[in-house]
Amino acid sequence: MSDATTNRSDEALSSLAVPPACVNAPADLDAESPAGAPAGVDPLSATPAPTEQGEWTKLQRSAVLVVDDDYGVRNTVSRFLQREGYEVLAAENLTEARDHLHNHDILVVLADITLKGGENGLEFLHEVRAARPNLDVMMMTAHSDLDYAVEALKQGAYDYLTKPFPFELLKAAVNRAVERRRYVEREAMLDLLEERRATDEENVEQFMVSLASITDAKSHFTARHSARVADLSRLLAEAMGLDDDTIARVTLGGRLHDIGKIGVSEMIIEKAGPLTRDEFEIMKRHPSIGDDLLAPIRTMQELRPMVRWHHESLDGTGYPDGLKGDLIPVEAMIVKVADIWEAITSRRPYREPMSLEVAAKTLAAEAGRRVPADMVDAFLQAIEGAPIALPIVAA
Ligand SMILES: [Fe+2]
Ligand SMILES: [Fe+2]
Repeated sequence: MSDATTNRSDEALSSLAVPPACVNAPADLDAESPAGAPAGVDPLSATPAPTEQGEWTKLQRSAVLVVDDDYGVRNTVSRFLQREGYEVLAAENLTEARDHLHNHDILVVLADITLKGGENGLEFLHEVRAARPNLDVMMMTAHSDLDYAVEALKQGAYDYLTKPFPFELLKAAVNRAVERRRYVEREAMLDLLEERRATDEENVEQFMVSLASITDAKSHFTARHSARVADLSRLLAEAMGLDDDTIARVTLGGRLHDIGKIGVSEMIIEKAGPLTRDEFEIMKRHPSIGDDLLAPIRTMQELRPMVRWHHESLDGTGYPDGLKGDLIPVEAMIVKVADIWEAITSRRPYREPMSLEVAAKTLAAEAGRRVPADMVDAFLQAIEGAPIALPIVAA
C-alpha cells in the first residue's frame, strides 16, 4: 500500500534529521511519529490520507516521489517535504513507484538505492531515465552504498544524499532539482510557443496568399497575375544581386501586391473597355485597401511598402500618395517593374498581349520616368530567354 501523507504542521519534525535505514529501529520511528501512534499504523491517519489511487489522480500539482522500503525514512522525508509545500507520493517498492510514475505528474524522484526483495534503486533510475529524460532522480544511500551512489551519478542520477542527512540538505537538494525541472519545463514551453507562433505566422501567410489568389480569380484575365508578378519580382531581385531575405520578401510582396483588389468591384476589374474617371478613382484605392488589410498583422509589416506603393512613379504622378524619386522604396519599384511587364504581356478585356519585343520597348520607355533606369536595364537583360518572359497561353 502506498502511504501518501497529508500536509500538517508538526514542529517536532523541524529539529530532526532523516534517520539511517531503520527497519530494525522502532524507537526512531516513534520519534518521528505523533505521540501515541501505534507501530505499523499510519501515524497521520487522524487526518484522512488519500490512499486510494482515484484520489491521487485528482492531484492538481506535481508531486515529489519518495521511494524507500524503510517506513521511517519514507514517512519522515514525505512529511518534511509536505511541510515545505510539496505534494508527496510515497512508495515502498518499485511496483508502487512505477504505478505513481505512470499515473501522476512527478516533479522529482527521491529513491533509495537498496530496496527489499532484491529490488534496486538503480533499476528504477534506468526506467525513469528511459521514460522521462527530463525527470531528475536523486538517490538516497547508506554509507555502505557509496559505490552504488557514484555508479548512479554515472548513470544519470541528478544527486545523492547519504543517510542520515539533515533536513536542510534534503530541502536544498530537492529545491535545486525542482528549480531545474521548472527551468527545463519553462524552456520546453517557450520552444512550444515559438513553434506555435511560427505555425501561426505560416498560416497567416498562407491565408494572405489564398486571398490574393481569390482576388486574381475575380477575372479570368488576371487569374495568374499575382503569381507571375511574384516570379518576375524574384527574377529582377536576383538580377540586382540582392540578398536571399530581400529576394524572398520581394517575391511574397509581388504575390500580395494587389490583395486590396478584394475591395474593388468585379464589374470594374472585368470591364471590357477603358475605365471612367470615377471607376479609375475606385480602382486607385486598391493599394491603400491592401495596406489597411496588412497593417494589423505583425508579420506583414515589411510587405506593406510594396502593397501600398507599387503604383507610385519616380516623377510623382503615381498613386495613392504621389511619392517621388528616392522616397519610393526600392522593393516597391521592383514589384512595379514586374507588375508593368506582367500587365503588358497578358491579354486584357480591352487589348491583346504585347509581344516580347514590343513589351521590352514599352518598358524601356518608362525608364527614368516612372521606374529607375538601372532597374529596367537589369530586368530586360534578365528576362531575355527566361521561361517566365511571357505567360503560358492555354491551347
Ligand atoms: Fe496594383
Ligand atoms: Fe498588379
